[in-house]
Amino acid sequence: MRISVNVAMSIDGKIASTLREQLVISGPSDFDRVDSLRAQYDAIMVGVQTILADDPKLLIRSEDLNSDRIGRGMSAHPARIVVDSLGRTPNSAQVMGDDARTFILLSEIAEKERIQELKELGATTIVSGEERVDIESAIKLLKDEGIENILVEGGGELIFTLMNRNLVDLLTVYIAPMIIGGENAPTLADGEGFVDKFPRFTLTQVQKIDDGVVLFFKKIIGDRS
Ligand SMILES: NC(=O)c1ccc[n+]([C@@H]2O[C@H](COP(=O)([O-])OP(=O)(O)OC[C@H]3O[C@@H](n4cnc5c(N)ncnc54)[C@H](OP(=O)(O)O)[C@@H]3O)[C@@H](O)[C@H]2O)c1
Repeated sequence: MRISVNVAMSIDGKIASTLREQLVISGPSDFDRVDSLRAQYDAIMVGVQTILADDPKLLIRSEDLNSDRIGRGMSAHPARIVVDSLGRTPNSAQVMGDDARTFILLSEIAEKERIQELKELGATTIVSGEERVDIESAIKLLKDEGIENILVEGGGELIFTLMNRNLVDLLTVYIAPMIIGGENAPTLADGEGFVDKFPRFTLTQVQKIDDGVVLFFKKIIGDRS
């Protein structure tokens, strides 16, 4: 399983403001880059707070990219995966639309009725973990569903968990020439934070795009220090 992370952030590392609402951070060329990136993956994963804050569709916008995927024997769009212990994804969320397959990863504390309701709405549900989603187990079950690679698009809490479990192979970050500020504004990796064993990456490419820059990183294999 290959897991990549892509986010857009400000110079000061914020991925949204303290309002935690959808905020346009990158520009049109970066949207195209992300569209092409999405087209390379079997699935796009987000945490439920991102669904509640941004209500993204997580679809590919370019019909050419859809056709290209179909030509390669893939679905027109990657599947959507929401990490959502309780099943808080609203029934009306755009990811619940039928343009692409949707997986909801739940934990054992999710109510059976809610799981059933999500299934009836067309989602594929996967239960793993007691209180929170056990991402590693869920990923194994996703593999059985034909998901071999995942693009994670946020937010900071989910990315922290993935970093903490050494699961992120590639990381691309668009840095916009703006400051968002606010000590409670979400950053690329939130959660508890690291005090040692910091995940480290190697910079492989730098690309100027729109008014900002995209940094491409790959995981350093081996122990964290
Ligand atoms: N600029 C960008 O590129 C970008 C991209 C995406 C999002 N955002 C912003 O990021 C913010 C949302 O990020 P966020 O950090 O608050 O939330 P998040 O990472 O989107 O979602 C976190 C939630 O996922 C659920 N979860 C279940 N199991 C988990 C696990 N093992 N590890 C981590 N999370 C787990 C938890 O809710 P339950 O306990 O209910 O399951 C948790 O609160 C929004 O403001 C959004 O606008 C920005």
